[in-house]
Parts: sequence; structure tokens; C-alpha cells
Amino acid sequence: MARIIVITSGKGGVGKTTTAINLAAALNLLGKEVVLVDANITTPNIGLHFGAPITPVSLSHVLSGRAKVHEALYEHHSGIKVMPASLSLPRNMNLDKIHEIAKRLKRFGDIVIFDSAAGLGREAVMAIEAADDILIVTQAELPALTDALKTIRLAEKLDKNVRGIVLTRFMDSLHEENLENIEAMLETPILEIIPEDDSVKEALRLKDAVVHTHPESKAAKGYKRLAAKLLGKKYVEQLEIQEKKGKFRRFLRILGVE
Ligand SMILES: Nc1ncnc2c1ncn2[C@@H]1O[C@H](COP(=O)(O)OP(=O)(O)OP(=O)(O)O)[C@@H](O)[C@H]1O
Ligand SMILES: [Mg+2]
Repeated sequence: MARIIVITSGKGGVGKTTTAINLAAALNLLGKEVVLVDANITTPNIGLHFGAPITPVSLSHVLSGRAKVHEALYEHHSGIKVMPASLSLPRNMNLDKIHEIAKRLKRFGDIVIFDSAAGLGREAVMAIEAADDILIVTQAELPALTDALKTIRLAEKLDKNVRGIVLTRFMDSLHEENLENIEAMLETPILEIIPEDDSVKEALRLKDAVVHTHPESKAAKGYKRLAAKLLGKKYVEQLEIQEKKGKFRRFLRILGVE
């Protein structure tokens, strides 16, 4: 059964969209069928980060009952299925439908990733409610950590499984004990640390995941380790072979052989 992973944060601008597209790309390279949903409805970003097409039908249309789920899914060149949000401010949306849409999306892949809005507004809360697993993205700064804690508490109140923290834009100046302090403060394990990396900026300029544009960069390797971890695997060289197999399978699919 497919799982819904919601990528969320307390504070805005901490790296959720970067994490969502790169986790999607890394899982896809490991041979998983991935659906990526731009659930940041009022300020959508997937299109900007991932070069997803500006399309006539989006999540907003599904939420307002004007389209069916499959009509709002588009295939990215990597093979990932993307559901964009509308760039114009949508009207008559029923956010309660997110839960139902998430359930329906499970038919379209092994893993459904929601890039959510920050904070504790209705948009973010509805995405959290739709989750099987939650990843909290934060930077290692007190304001971001304090807000992350609020999101974790809310998720727990909603009986949701917080898988862990993704610490982004990490600078080398933090030591082991600081990491332990962060885990203690949030009462949640740090799953992966993604370093501050100029390749991420370059990937954004190229409108693609850093996992695709700079596969050997530190950030890309971090996201690949995170993907492997979520699948219960350790990212070792062997997984690179699996990655190649995943690519080959997708190539066959494009040719209609598989
Ligand atoms: N590891 C990194 N190294 C360098 N820059 C990064 C890294 N991760 C993210 N960034 C940059 O930080 C900025 C914010 O990232 P992103 O858009 O992913 O955050 P967000 O949490 O989705 O923001 P919002 O709350 O507005 O949706 C972007 O310019 C992105 O390129
Ligand atoms: Mg974002």
C-alpha cells in the first residue's frame, strides 16, 4: 500500500520544497513510483523548483470539484508524477477534500509526497491530517526550531507519525552535542543533515532537483541517504546499482517495453 509523506515545517523558507523535489527524485532513482503534490496551495513552488509545466488543471481544480484526480497529474521527464497547484489564487476550494485526494493518489504510485505550506494555518493542518508519515524540515536556528516544535506537537495531537527531522542548510560549525540538543529539544530524531550547498542554488536556476543536476554534490548525497533511510536501507554503493536499475526500468517503460 502506498504511503503519503508530508513535508512540512514551522517556519517558512527552510527548504521544504527543495526537500520534497529531491526526496521525490532520489526515491524515483531507487526505482519507486513517486507522486509529488504541490500542497502549498496559496504560494505554490514546485513549478519553479522542478520545472513542472504550467498546466490547465491543478490540485486547486480537484479541490473545487472541477476536475478528477487523474486529470491534474502530469508526468515529469524523470518519470515522477506531479500534481501542481494553481498560480492564480484559487476560488471555492474545499480543503477538507485533501484527505480524500491523498487516499485516491495512493493508486498512482508507491509513495506520495506532499510539499506543504509552513506554519499551523488550515492549509498546513489539512496536509498533516492527510499524512501517513511526516517529515519536519528545519534549519538549526532557534526561531526555526521553536516553530518546528509547534508543528511536531500539532502532528502528535492529530495522532500522526512524525518520522523525523531533516536539518537543512547546515553549516559545519555545529557539533555533535548541538545535534543532540536539537534532538532533545524536539524529542524527535534527526533523519538526515543536508549541508548548505551552492549546487542547490544552481539546480534551482536549472529548475530541476540537485539530485538530477549535481548527483555527486553533498546536498544530493544527503537526499539520497534520506531516501534510502526511509526505505529502511543504508545508502551504500550497492544502492547506486539499484539507482541505475531504476533508471533502466524507466527507460524501458518510456519505450513501452515494461
Ligand atoms: N541545502 C541548501 N543549500 C543552499 N541553499 C538551499 C538549500 N536548501 C534550500 N536552499 C535555498 O533556500 C531557499 C528556500 O528553500 P525552499 O523554497 O525549499 O524553502 P521552503 O521551506 O519550501 O519555503 P516556503 O515556506 O516559502 O515554501 C531557496 O532559495 C533554496 O534554493
Ligand atoms: Mg516551498
